[in-house]
Amino acid sequence: MWDYTDKVLDLFYNPKNQGTIVDTNEPGIAVVFGEVGSIACGDALRLHLKIDITSDKILDARFQTFGCTSAIASSSALTELIKDLTLDEALKITNQEIADYLGGLPEAKMHCSVMGQEALEAAIYNYRGIKVEQHEEDEGTLICTCFSVSENKIRRVAIENNLTTAEQVTSYVKAGGGCSACLAAIEDILTAVQQETTATSKRLATEIAMAQEKALDRDRTVKPLTTVQKITLIQRVLEEVRPLLLADGGDVELYDVDGNTVKVLLKGACGSCSSSTATLKSAIEARLQEQVLPTLVVEAVEAI
Ligand code: FES
Repeated sequence: MWDYTDKVLDLFYNPKNQGTIVDTNEPGIAVVFGEVGSIACGDALRLHLKIDITSDKILDARFQTFGCTSAIASSSALTELIKDLTLDEALKITNQEIADYLGGLPEAKMHCSVMGQEALEAAIYNYRGIKVEQHEEDEGTLICTCFSVSENKIRRVAIENNLTTAEQVTSYVKAGGGCSACLAAIEDILTAVQQETTATSKRLATEIAMAQEKALDRDRTVKPLTTVQKITLIQRVLEEVRPLLLADGGDVELYDVDGNTVKVLLKGACGSCSSSTATLKSAIEARLQEQVLPTLVVEAVEAI
């Protein structure tokens, strides 16, 4: 027995918006439908939309489904979510939002939420005259022949739902749930997606850090640094320098900031001879002047 939420059970026993929409040829109104799945595979969904042609808004949505409890509940949820949205707004609905509306779905039933999202796309593409085979998701290599699932479709659900295992992919789009011949290919796709996601996260983090640095630079030229900003930037520079010193058996610590004088404690090998202290002081001072304020001077103090 599946562990369904109260919302899923409620929409199963009392489905909303079940049925069809009859096209009465009302001026300014379009009636279309989109269909996914096949009865042979176990689940099928037909979604009907009534669209206001001028505003591009969905005035009504109804569904017919041949499916299980979660298919009926997901279809109901979808029709509730998209009413009064424009078509572009509706296209942004993800399968996760459908599942969230239901308070969650068992993972093995997530394909029902994916089916809802696909039926919505099919209906909108149908209205816009875009052939399904022109939709980018259906281009690309066919990975699972048992369930006709393409590489692009697997990539998309993996990214949108943070999927990391082939078993999860099977729960979401059924791929891999038949003869299992495609499981290795699914694993390869997941590995590639994870590598791309990590690379993208790193690039974004770098871009954000650079943007923040630029904003700080801009602020610095427009108005003087506050004491807190100055100390934060000085600490940041010292943290950059520390690994180099630690590698040579030394260390540096911020002791105090008095106006433009930065007092530092030089430790270990760094503080052992006066000539190395002087060299170090100038090196740190040069960095601070370049990265924080050109008027800063460094003073090495002794630990008490
Ligand atoms: S090819 Fe994917 S399960 Fe058979």
